[in-house]
Amino acid sequence: MRAPAVSQHHHPLTGGATFAPSSKTSIRGRSNLAIRMGLKEDAPSLAIVGVTGAVGQEFLSVLSDRAFPYQSIRMLASKRSAGKHLTFEDKDYIIEELNQDSFNGIDIVLFSAGGSISKEFGPIAIDHGSVVVDNSSAFRMDENVPLVIPEVNPDAMAHIKLRSGKGALIANPNCSTIICLMAATPLHRHAKVMRMVVSTYQAASGAGAAAMEELDLQTREVLQGKQPTCKIFKQQYAFNIFSHNAPVLSNGYNEEEMKLVKETRKIWNDMNIKVTATCIRVPVMRAHAESINLQFEKPLDESTARDILKRAAGVVVIDDRASNHFPTPLEVSNKDDVAVGRIRQDLSQDGNHGLDIFVCGDQIRKGAALNAIQIAEILL
Ligand SMILES: NC(=O)c1ccc[n+]([C@@H]2O[C@H](COP(=O)([O-])OP(=O)(O)OC[C@H]3O[C@@H](n4cnc5c(N)ncnc54)[C@H](OP(=O)(O)O)[C@@H]3O)[C@@H](O)[C@H]2O)c1
Repeated sequence: MRAPAVSQHHHPLTGGATFAPSSKTSIRGRSNLAIRMGLKEDAPSLAIVGVTGAVGQEFLSVLSDRAFPYQSIRMLASKRSAGKHLTFEDKDYIIEELNQDSFNGIDIVLFSAGGSISKEFGPIAIDHGSVVVDNSSAFRMDENVPLVIPEVNPDAMAHIKLRSGKGALIANPNCSTIICLMAATPLHRHAKVMRMVVSTYQAASGAGAAAMEELDLQTREVLQGKQPTCKIFKQQYAFNIFSHNAPVLSNGYNEEEMKLVKETRKIWNDMNIKVTATCIRVPVMRAHAESINLQFEKPLDESTARDILKRAAGVVVIDDRASNHFPTPLEVSNKDDVAVGRIRQDLSQDGNHGLDIFVCGDQIRKGAALNAIQIAEILL
């Protein structure tokens, strides 16, 4: 059994020196994948691009928690981090600057360093025969690129094989889309969603390690009566909420909202599905919340919906009306499962054709690193 301990010169999320991935387990308990898989001689060689970032650090945590088999890992980031040391599973690594030769002999590359890095280096990794799992939005809507949530549409990547002599790229969907569809898909399979209205409450972590540090700093500053430092966001974040910082488009939607609209259509392979969204940043450190209103083609009562969600992989139901206990970002932070509650009939729709649900999910984990590594597991 490999020791699941990660220590690093500086952990960007905590500012501290170490963190322990073994504390990050599923709400339902650790995956039995960890038992099934061990270190294999023929295990893939991995590279992580953006290993020092919020998602990059979580990749390490998830790899360790799931005992993902690997021969070697190349730790890649920018020039700023090159030469720094990182300890993962009792082994010392030196972080390397990403360059054109970074992918020699690499089977799987996990990218999380922003869209421009994926656009520039993704094709180079593919040319080297690597399979890329990309966390950025750069290739998500490319019709030749599978956009995959393993619990929802694993078949979309069925044609992609490791070490086939041909590189390939698989895109990880946007974090809000993943969290939404983890809850909505089991219901969609049963009663077919016609229209979906999503309102998000998105955490600082979705904007990376520096945004989390800014929320922490601003909170202290405001409590001390100082002017808050606004570098990542243009306005005060602590003790405030605002429309998501993604660019606003000519149709009035911002890019984050349009990702929910377009990615849902692609993942569900249904160009007619009606989706609208309003995305809001809230001063929560980690994990997104979403209010989702669904309209179905077929009737679906709330107790059937609750049963379907209880049985759904990667979903946990927290729906205790008596004690007013429903999902919260804090409760799902560092957890694998997406939590669903407030499951109730939409009174404004006739004949059991509408439901309201409230969903929380750790978007660094299921919304990014975990989903990407589940994709990599399909390749094994
Ligand atoms: N945070 C989330 O919840 C989330 C969810 C889904 C998808 N994503 C996507 O994942 C990506 C990373 O997000 P994040 O939140 O992890 O950001 P982050 O915390 O700001 O980390 C950015 C990472 O990219 C690296 N990087 C920056 N410039 C680079 C360069 N020129 N060459 C190589 N590496 C470079 C950084 O390395 P240095 O430390 O050396 O600067 C760092 O490791 C983004 O595309 C984001 O949209 C994030």
